[in-house]
Amino acid sequence: MTDDPQQLEPSPEFRARARVRSRADYEALHRESLADPETFWSRELAGLLGGWSSVRQGELPDATWFHGATLNVSERCLDRHLTGPARHKAALIWEGEPQDAHGQPETRTLTYLQLHREVVRLAAALTALGVGAGDRVIIYMGMVPEAIVAMLACARLGAVHSVVFGGFAAEALHSRIVDCEARLVITQDGAWRRGSVVPMKPVVDAALALSPGVAKVIVLRRVAAALPVNMTPGRDLWWDDALALAHPSTPSAPAQVDAEHPLFILYTSGSTGKPKGVLHSSAGYLAGAYLSARHVLDLQPDDLLWCTADIGWITGHSYVVYGPLANAATVLIYEGAPNAPDPGRIWQIVERHRVTILYTAPTAIRAFMRWGDAWPAAHELGSLRLLGTVGEPIGPDAWHWYQRTIGGGRCPIVDTWWQTETGSIMLSTLPGAVPARPGRAGLPFFGVDAAVVHPDGRPCAADETGLLVLRRAWPSMLRTIWGNHERFLAGYFAPIAGVYFTGDSARVDADGYVTVLGRVDDVLNVAGHRIGTAEIEAAIGTHPAVAESAAVGRPDDLKGQALVVFVTLKLGHHASPALHDEILAQVAHEVGKFARPDELRFTEALPKTRSGKIMRRFLKEIAAGRETTGDTSTLEDLGVLARLRAAPEE
Ligand code: WTA
Repeated sequence: MTDDPQQLEPSPEFRARARVRSRADYEALHRESLADPETFWSRELAGLLGGWSSVRQGELPDATWFHGATLNVSERCLDRHLTGPARHKAALIWEGEPQDAHGQPETRTLTYLQLHREVVRLAAALTALGVGAGDRVIIYMGMVPEAIVAMLACARLGAVHSVVFGGFAAEALHSRIVDCEARLVITQDGAWRRGSVVPMKPVVDAALALSPGVAKVIVLRRVAAALPVNMTPGRDLWWDDALALAHPSTPSAPAQVDAEHPLFILYTSGSTGKPKGVLHSSAGYLAGAYLSARHVLDLQPDDLLWCTADIGWITGHSYVVYGPLANAATVLIYEGAPNAPDPGRIWQIVERHRVTILYTAPTAIRAFMRWGDAWPAAHELGSLRLLGTVGEPIGPDAWHWYQRTIGGGRCPIVDTWWQTETGSIMLSTLPGAVPARPGRAGLPFFGVDAAVVHPDGRPCAADETGLLVLRRAWPSMLRTIWGNHERFLAGYFAPIAGVYFTGDSARVDADGYVTVLGRVDDVLNVAGHRIGTAEIEAAIGTHPAVAESAAVGRPDDLKGQALVVFVTLKLGHHASPALHDEILAQVAHEVGKFARPDELRFTEALPKTRSGKIMRRFLKEIAAGRETTGDTSTLEDLGVLARLRAAPEE
């Protein structure tokens, strides 16, 4: 195994500091985590969580964890550090995007003590505004420290937050507000992005015009004069005015909730038009985020972790907020674009703050590669000691570039596979214990029983491609789809009997390393954003000229996948560049600019089976410019394929 040239061993220095230092030790722990979860979790979570009467009750699909334990997640992430050495340690180091005339950005540091104080104040304000345990709160913000304060303040009350990525448009925000029946929204006037202001409060206003159930909106001032906003009397409050509402006598003790109490809902794309509200628990989720951050990201007391994900995605939840803070780590958060004002910005930040762990996405790595080696070369990156990637398969090219050019050949790389639904990292190498193999995520994390199987559930042989499943319940597993347990059962458990189906295809090599190949369902991964084809089709369908559409992915060097849509028009409408632009604008309006298709092709008809199902496989091949293969006899209109191939690209 060790003479494989395509394998990267950790350095002796890295190994010496790691918590798990050999494959044998990893295997022993992994075995124990499955065979004796009580002993494993009691020891591994010591100090974080305890007092449960049973470690797990039930099995897939409806297992619950740590029954009998009570906790408050914000207390576990903050208060418990205040009596130890982390009291005055930086919890958050923030850098804003704009820079002054001397190239200096605005920065802020919040120690654990300071972050705790901010969270307690906001929690008191939320209490004064009537928010209590179980209430849903929408957080629609950019990457500012207050977004994290807002998440933790909700957790402090046992309220359920749902962070909506700031790139979503009013329609998408509205549908999430309505689905979770939120009573309060926390937002900011606008955010800085690539030198300009992205409006946020106006988007909330538009969303709320459609959803009158929201009683209050708290607005943080971030861009102030750059974007004057309207405040609706009786509904909208500035952040500082909200804080002033809290009465000194408002109780500040964190709400102690049951282990299974919901911590948050995070909407993600599935294979139907409606986004799914993935619901996570308190204790199980925290346990997964904590332990994976500790072992996979190898958090040590002096580390500075920069996970570049936005808090609007699961990676931001687990590895910007809950995982690192539960470990008393220091995290860096950056407000803006990595190439603002130039592509050196990201490396300048690493150098300025002496970042030690960088966790980012392959799509970003490919962009850095394209921008050129001169940018990282101009900065001192010697502080980095561990690199991570997540979100999509990383090709060997990008992997080697990352390892060599950013890691200086010295840093292990962890390629972490997981999902919004899994809550925390499921597959990876442990960086001090197991060598990395480019393009292969690696081995199952503790408590994870992963397998690659045939559609009927039979395991695949080594190197045989099949479907990735998880065969046992794990603590940070989603508990349900908010308001739709049927969809939870149908989406994840009906496809293959007795196991959780991930929606991904994969293969396992003879040494147990899993290579994740990509989605096999109607979910795309475009520039690291998870996008449901049905969601895009639903948005396009709201345009009055559109009869029908089909969205598919095509391989793209930079984005991983590009979004291609095929559109048929209603009688009396004709393809034109203006209509092309209108339809793209419709997607930006309904979903958000980040989801705008890369390519739109008008066609006379879509290829369908006799039962009327769109044959996406053919469309994918056409989109990728490949000839179609396979049996076309099930096509309703055989001529349609030829016409599609000839269709002019608008
Ligand atoms: C993909 C992101 C290959 C996969 C945390 C999964 C990956 C989907 C990897 C979940 C990886 C994530 N290698 N593919 N290391 N990590 N994926 O919910 O298709 O935004 O199902 O969660 O991203 O995306 P989500």
